[in-house]
Amino acid sequence: MVQKALWSGRYGSGMDDSTLEFTSSLDVDVALGFYDIMGSLAHVTMLRDCGILSNSDADEIIDGLRTLLDDVRGGRLGIDHGLEDIHTNIEHALTALKGPVGGKLHTGRSRNDQVATDLRMYLRDAVLEAAKCIDALIKTLVDLAEGSRSAIMPGLTHMQHAQPVTAAQHMMAHAFRLGRDADRFLESFERINVCPLGAGALAGTTYPIDRGQTSDLLGFGRPTENSMDSVSDRDFVMEAAFCASMLAVHLSSMAEELVLWSSPEFGFIEMDDRYTTGSSMMPQKKNPDVAELIRGRAGGVIGGLVSALVLVKGLPLTYNRDLQEDKKAVMEPMRTVVQCASMMSKVVSTMRFDEGRMSSLVKEGHVNATDMADYLVAKGMPFREAHGAVGSAVRFCVREKKGLEELTLSEMRGFSDLIDEDVFDVLPIEKCVERRRSFGGTSPQSVEAQISMTLDSLSDRECRISRKMSAIDDCWNRLAG
Ligand code: ARG
Repeated sequence: MVQKALWSGRYGSGMDDSTLEFTSSLDVDVALGFYDIMGSLAHVTMLRDCGILSNSDADEIIDGLRTLLDDVRGGRLGIDHGLEDIHTNIEHALTALKGPVGGKLHTGRSRNDQVATDLRMYLRDAVLEAAKCIDALIKTLVDLAEGSRSAIMPGLTHMQHAQPVTAAQHMMAHAFRLGRDADRFLESFERINVCPLGAGALAGTTYPIDRGQTSDLLGFGRPTENSMDSVSDRDFVMEAAFCASMLAVHLSSMAEELVLWSSPEFGFIEMDDRYTTGSSMMPQKKNPDVAELIRGRAGGVIGGLVSALVLVKGLPLTYNRDLQEDKKAVMEPMRTVVQCASMMSKVVSTMRFDEGRMSSLVKEGHVNATDMADYLVAKGMPFREAHGAVGSAVRFCVREKKGLEELTLSEMRGFSDLIDEDVFDVLPIEKCVERRRSFGGTSPQSVEAQISMTLDSLSDRECRISRKMSAIDDCWNRLAG
């Protein structure tokens, strides 16, 4: 590999090939090419408007950058691995295209503020895309909930049968988890969307630059307030990596359920063939590999968060080369969670509940025991006493291999003489579900309310996301000319 000298500075000779290879960030930051050019277009426009560059120099540079932008968009930008990163590559390509005037682009700028700006622009798009993708999954869950309002399954705590719930209530539980993930990404956007460009290497610059202008041209909310903070902190990286990790954890937990539910022991769902795989040896196998990989990939995503946190933990202000590793910690995890969320939408939208299997299992495990205790409470018994009486009834049922609803009235009266014929109205499983009408409960009305709240927040987020996306697009269109 031949190391190209874009700048010589105090150096007489170039770096050793092994140093170049070791320090290069190209394999990762090549994905920042588009943003790097946009940042440069904004920077040079500002330099011109502030009188720091002549109109003719600026126009030449802008023209060259726009050519490179077309190359990036068309996947044609040649990458020179003799140059250590994407910033150097683009400056080099500009100079190759336009001659020495290209060397004026970097006036009043450092790669330190440049890379922080590029990564913020990249993550701004990435968090919006993630939120959008989560919302598509939530919509899938809502559709599934709408179709499974009357599908009753045993609700579990400690993996033991607890109380009956509808599959709809269960799907909506995941929808609310994910809704918070989408909100979290959108909230992180506000802290990502601040512009470090113009902070220079660390201390600002002597040129009369206008940081407000570059910030506006790039669609940021405002410029960062302190030059040293601007080039050193990566809290926005850690925040995005946390949002990604939280989403990965939620998806993984959901995936784990789907894996269990698709096993013959549960048999609650049948996954579509397209999202399962066979075994190379056992012809009968239908494995839930997509769900398993969603669960498995959470590990790498969480790893990204941990590495970003540890990366910054011991760093003094300001820029230190360690920070180059920040991109790996967040860019790949962001891609992973978007892919996982979109695969999860496919798995969920094509799977089928086996309602017969769920309703046969819900009859086991005495999931109506709480309802029987509540019945006794309504008859005037203190809850703690009712809990004891029904507990004894359950012990009797376990011995007799019967459900509570299968006991005769006289058997029941053995546990409390407050019990009457009307107990048989409260014990059917459907009744247990219907009566849980408390806000957030599993009754059909309550699930209906949850669905309508979710649809409202989906449309609210859709507006917010598309407003932000089109504001960014407008900036790109203006800068691209
Ligand atoms: N590749 C570097 C990074 O990703 C760009 C900034 C380099 N700055 C420096 N002072 N060497 O962090």
